[in-house]
Amino acid sequence: MASIGALLASLPEKALGQSYDVLRAPTTPLVNGVIASPEQALNVMDFEPAARAALVGAGAPAHFGYLATGVDDDATLRANHEDYQKIRIQVRRLIDARKIDTSCAVLGERWASPIFLCPVSSQAALNPAAAADVADAKAAKAKGHQMILSTVGSKSIEEVNDAHGSPVWYMLYPTDDWNVTQALVKRAEAAGSRVLVLTVDRQGGRNTETLLIARREDKRPCQACHQGGFKNEVSRKPMFDGLDVSKVTNLYGTGMTWDFVKRLQGTTKMKIVLKGIMSGEDAGEAVKYGVDGIIVSNHGGRAEESLRSTISALPEVVKAVNGRVPVLVDGGVRRGTDVLKALALGATAVGIGRPYCWGLAAFGQPGVEAVLAILQREFETIMKQVGATNLREITRTSVIA
Ligand SMILES: Cc1cc2nc3c(=O)[nH]c(=O)nc-3n(C[C@H](O)[C@H](O)[C@H](O)COP(=O)(O)O)c2cc1C
Repeated sequence: MASIGALLASLPEKALGQSYDVLRAPTTPLVNGVIASPEQALNVMDFEPAARAALVGAGAPAHFGYLATGVDDDATLRANHEDYQKIRIQVRRLIDARKIDTSCAVLGERWASPIFLCPVSSQAALNPAAAADVADAKAAKAKGHQMILSTVGSKSIEEVNDAHGSPVWYMLYPTDDWNVTQALVKRAEAAGSRVLVLTVDRQGGRNTETLLIARREDKRPCQACHQGGFKNEVSRKPMFDGLDVSKVTNLYGTGMTWDFVKRLQGTTKMKIVLKGIMSGEDAGEAVKYGVDGIIVSNHGGRAEESLRSTISALPEVVKAVNGRVPVLVDGGVRRGTDVLKALALGATAVGIGRPYCWGLAAFGQPGVEAVLAILQREFETIMKQVGATNLREITRTSVIA
């Protein structure tokens, strides 16, 4: 006789209803409490121990440390996530939300989902067998997510745009040689990218202790790959191919001011978005200087130990901007409910960094796909509970904050 599980699995989805999910969940055992395939994941947090196990198993605990680290005590990193827990959601009843549309318009583009992939450097170090940013791009393309490629990504903008099927956004670190900076911008523009994301939060240096602790466990000589300095190391990244980097000493620029933004505006037709804004004051300045968008971000708690979470900074930025440009946010987003909360507080779209990298580190492209699918599913579920059939119907009254 067929088991109840097999019987239910053979029924059409509609006949089951969601209460039978428990019977359809994967039943293969975890290995030491860690998922062994993307299908076993119940939520995106399940991918973090899997990423750790994969990297430690490959003898690369320092690379997991690189992904995991915040700065100093990692308190800002934790605050990013924990502050989402302080916001409650206002559900609504008796609204037919069976059909929902999660698409949104962002700077002239139409995205199928407000969830985008943040720029993350050096992803080849997370899973040498996967195609790094190209794997992300293919995963993002499958479900219509936008992504942002880092200046120090492991793949070039041409490869990533190609894999994504439409141009991704390009994230720029300013460097301290304008010729090199300009060449990076021109290359991204020539590759078809329409939006340039200038990251402005890495000027001060940083103390990544969790990385340093993980490095103590790593038996490999770091110098074998990391020779240090811009010329020997950073410039090996594909976006620097063919450039004369002999005058660059610093990837993050030194003493960058609003003049740099003006200079960029004079050199490209791409729209310019600032990533790393954390105050209404700076957001107001950004709009005054004519930027096209803002990403409220503290680099995933990797820039400064301010204890200020991005979700707590979002409302004052939204207020200062007053609808003149889109405001995106990232940092600590781990649940579909977090996405809804950020949208309710005025974000146009919501970025994830570490979660998709956990997926990549553990399982390659299928891992990234699974992370995106889980977050999207959770987001759609909570949309239905607040009675929102599209993103416009997620409003300030959808949350109590
Ligand atoms: C390993 C790692 C590398 C990153 N590299 C970059 C980068 O090159 N450029 C950038 O603007 N942000 C970078 N970020 C920050 C992310 O774009 C994003 O702001 C952050 O990861 C969001 O927080 P979350 O990881 O909690 O989702 C990096 C983050 C991580 C974890």
